[in-house]
Amino acid sequence: MKPREIVPGVHFVGVPDFDRRLFDALIPLPDGTSYNSYLVRGRDKTVLIDAVEPSKLDVLEEYLAGVPRIDYVVSNHTEQDHSGGIPWLLARYPDIGVLSSETAKPMLVEHLGLDPAKIRTVADGERLELGGKTLRFVYTPWVHWPETMSTYLEEDRILFSCDFFGSHIAQTELFVDGADCIMAEAKRYYAEIMMPFRKIIQKDLDKIKDLDIRIIAPSHGPLHRDPASIIGAYRDWTDDKPHNSVVIPWTTMHGSTGLMVDRLTAALVERGITVHPFNMGTADIGQLAMALVDAATIVVAAPTVHVGPHPVVFNAVVLANALRPKVRFASIIGSYGWAGRLVETVKAAMPNLKVELLAPVVAKGMPKPADLEALDGLAAAIAAKHKEAGIL
Ligand code: FEO
Repeated sequence: MKPREIVPGVHFVGVPDFDRRLFDALIPLPDGTSYNSYLVRGRDKTVLIDAVEPSKLDVLEEYLAGVPRIDYVVSNHTEQDHSGGIPWLLARYPDIGVLSSETAKPMLVEHLGLDPAKIRTVADGERLELGGKTLRFVYTPWVHWPETMSTYLEEDRILFSCDFFGSHIAQTELFVDGADCIMAEAKRYYAEIMMPFRKIIQKDLDKIKDLDIRIIAPSHGPLHRDPASIIGAYRDWTDDKPHNSVVIPWTTMHGSTGLMVDRLTAALVERGITVHPFNMGTADIGQLAMALVDAATIVVAAPTVHVGPHPVVFNAVVLANALRPKVRFASIIGSYGWAGRLVETVKAAMPNLKVELLAPVVAKGMPKPADLEALDGLAAAIAAKHKEAGIL
């Protein structure tokens, strides 16, 4: 591949990965992903922004075939899909220096075995003159590791944001112009890795708001030529106010919990509430995470297996607890054969969710009329809470 010009002196040297289907052995990648790097050439110095995933170094090598010297590689983020190529760069360009945030330096040493002497830390707001092009380093921590930063190219008004504003999608087009065609992928990415750090990301957004940005160039997915759209979406996703929606991770073994989910869903819809039920036997956990970005309420719906919640639903509880969505209300519904500790076990597994627990509904065997009426009552209680919260 040949470097592709974004603006004069700035080239895309990234690699789409159309075949990858899983990240971190956890996150589904239905659309693949990409590992974006950028070559910035000033009159005096040449800089590479981020490196690529080690498995794609052959492509980076091809890109850089005609580049005899690189002065610095900027490591915006230590995770290996962006920094894993740095050891190869150090071998290919023995004089190259690594620029990173202060927090990143020990992490680069720890994760990649880099020689600390090769790493120069840059302060928040520090500038680097390349000759007609000026890089400014902006600390944007916790998107999604503690050491993350963005790099702003002042003359061309490009923000190289690494994971921040990125999306897991492989495509050959460099840019996305409108919001809609990439927003689902970007939201999926935010949901899966950034949602736990929502409050800090609000501050990151405040921090970049005074930058005059023409292009956001992340290190996954296409570049944004309409920065306001993706920044606006991040404002909404990180905002404290949830939407009028309920997420129900569920499964059923003999139909009882399934009937309860159907009844509750219908009762919520009748009350004007959006419902996202996910049958965890087949659900894409990325879709579940996306629904949790906005939801005001989560209702865990599980049958009982060996006195505890069914494991596929319990996995969803563990995931939701880790993702720390902005949900305000929760409940637990489900069924059991002879005995169980469904409610206690689910409740204990979500300490990170700062929720008000609404009365659970648990049926012995098939739900009876009283159980179904209790589900209508739960729907009414959820609607009342959403009204109080000003979202219904
Ligand atoms: Fe794309 Fe956090 O690495």
